[in-house]
Amino acid sequence: MNGIKIRGTGRGVPGKLVTNRDLEQVVDTSDEWIASRTGIRTRRFCGEGESVSTLAAAAARAALEDAGIGPEEIGACIVATLSADTLVPSAACLLQRELNLPQDIPCFDLNAACTGFLFGLHTMECLLNASPRKYGLVVGAENLSRLINWEDRGTCILFGDGAGAAVVECREGWPSISAIMGCHGSSGLLHVPGAETEGHSWISMEGTKVFKFAVEAVPWCVDQVLKKNGRAVEDVDFFVFHQANARIIDLAVRKYRIPPEKYYKNIAEYGNTSAASIPLVLSELREQGKIGPGSRLLAVGFGGGLTWGGCLIEFA
Ligand code: COA
Repeated sequence: MNGIKIRGTGRGVPGKLVTNRDLEQVVDTSDEWIASRTGIRTRRFCGEGESVSTLAAAAARAALEDAGIGPEEIGACIVATLSADTLVPSAACLLQRELNLPQDIPCFDLNAACTGFLFGLHTMECLLNASPRKYGLVVGAENLSRLINWEDRGTCILFGDGAGAAVVECREGWPSISAIMGCHGSSGLLHVPGAETEGHSWISMEGTKVFKFAVEAVPWCVDQVLKKNGRAVEDVDFFVFHQANARIIDLAVRKYRIPPEKYYKNIAEYGNTSAASIPLVLSELREQGKIGPGSRLLAVGFGGGLTWGGCLIEFA
């Protein structure tokens, strides 16, 4: 199988800034508690006129521009999300229309919660191998503020809205991203009701149990990706972790002795943006010049489902 590389990245960031101090007015919490337990200081929420669709379109446009690719060259479009504006049409179908992507390509949403973007990269690699067009659009976009239970201080402080996108290219002879991924069905630990619900569609989570799952899943994924690719920690230029809790990232960094210049945290600004978190990191790293042509990244995600995944991906 021919592999994919990232050609360009972009992001869509909603306008409304919400600080921990703002949340102190809503629930019994404190800036100190939130920052010390999670690393989060602010998050962005969708305001008037903003939605998964508008954020996804902004991110995708920026990624296309960064890649220097026209919409007519895209061979498939995947939006990873658990909070699409409508179940049907999917966010990806709406993006097809908004960006004027070709009509003879697959455009669909993918829900693997916070691991969605990595599931999307793997799926895109498979699709582009069977497509005459060699570029694909993978977007992670969320409007989680709509799913927050403001009576649950254990979860309402964690989540934010946003979108990130990557244009990927598939070429003969390029190595596969060799993604590893998995899931085990667990409805109790992290739950968002769907069509079956009679009440509100809110996020509920057993935070401590999910935390325990995450601190085991991250090193497991790192080890599996390195093993599958015959690589060592030193062969990786940059580690990109899902931004769910700064402490989860810190534990992995300590375990693998990753130097500060080889990993990144933006959870302080955005909170947990689920499927958008990894592409948001990619887009900021790219803008800051920390990654670019030739960079080899090891990305790891984990989340509701429960799902987990990792891959090794290069910049074209
Ligand atoms: N402000 C103040 N106190 C809070 C609070 C808040 N926002 N939320 C919970 N507390 C209190 C609890 O009521 C509890 O009080 P008690 O001891 O008197 O009962 C205490 O803080 C500890 O609560 P607990 O839920 O055990 O905290 P924690 O250390 O596990 O941290 C999370 C909570 C959510 C930050 C943490 O579990 C976490 O990050 N989990 C993983 C999240 C994650 O990765 N989710 C997404 C996967 S993609």
